[in-house]
Amino acid sequence: MSKTLAIVGSNNKESINKKLAVLALSKLDGDSNEIMDLVDLNAPIYSPDLEMASGVPAEIKAVFDKLSEYDSIILATPEHNGYLPAVFKNLLDWLSRTDGKFMQGKPVLLLSTSLGAQAGARSLGSLELFDEVF
Ligand SMILES: Cc1cc2nc3c(=O)[nH]c(=O)nc-3n(C[C@H](O)[C@H](O)[C@H](O)COP(=O)(O)O)c2cc1C
Repeated sequence: MSKTLAIVGSNNKESINKKLAVLALSKLDGDSNEIMDLVDLNAPIYSPDLEMASGVPAEIKAVFDKLSEYDSIILATPEHNGYLPAVFKNLLDWLSRTDGKFMQGKPVLLLSTSLGAQAGARSLGSLELFDEVF
């Protein structure tokens, strides 16, 4: 049975993108699908100096390892000022330092919902630019 991991790019406990990700997962078969939100991700802001001194943080390596356990990935992100929320961009920046293709070639579904007039279109467009490293 195929397993899907949905990463919610929000650290809002009441995230509407988390609700969207839960809905999307509910449409898939299997009981091994999982949601990961960033409320509990305790990762430092990316810094070349920090990376040089101590490498990729263990919390980020754990996310990378988790990705490898799933067959497909959903990314559900809010839009903050027309772009990805800082907490999510930080995760993607760190992940890009673990491996050239940190989504490991898996199928990735991009989702975004927001309360603004463009309903997350700009954050979706930003995520599409990551295609090369997925
Ligand atoms: C700092 C900040 C910037 C925001 N910028 C946008 C924006 O550019 N476009 C938009 O549609 N909504 C924007 N919003 C509203 C969010 O879409 C709304 O807070 C939404 O609930 C966030 O998704 P979440 O609940 O999954 O965290 C912004 C909210 C915050 C806190």
